Amino acid sequence: MIQSYEIQICLGSSCFSRGNREVVQVIRDYLKKKHLDDKVMLRGARCMDRCSEGPYLIINGKTFVKTGVQDVEKLLEKELAEPGK
Ligand code: FES
Repeated sequence: MIQSYEIQICLGSSCFSRGNREVVQVIRDYLKKKHLDDKVMLRGARCMDRCSEGPYLIINGKTFVKTGVQDVEKLLEKELAEPGK
């Protein structure tokens, strides 16, 4: 069962323009659809100085790079279902 999670998404200008603008919306929709809004804290972050690897995303301390809209739902399913794997 899901406890509490934290997703940090880089909203710095590079990541934002390279896809995180859409990714953040996909994450919001996913959390709503799965009724996880109250269990997952979604936070926007400033540039993490890793723009070349962006769009940049951190789920429970685990870093994901170059995550596109097409990958994010699968990623959330995996990461929110199997913490720490
Ligand atoms: S804008 Fe995201 S790491 Fe720089």
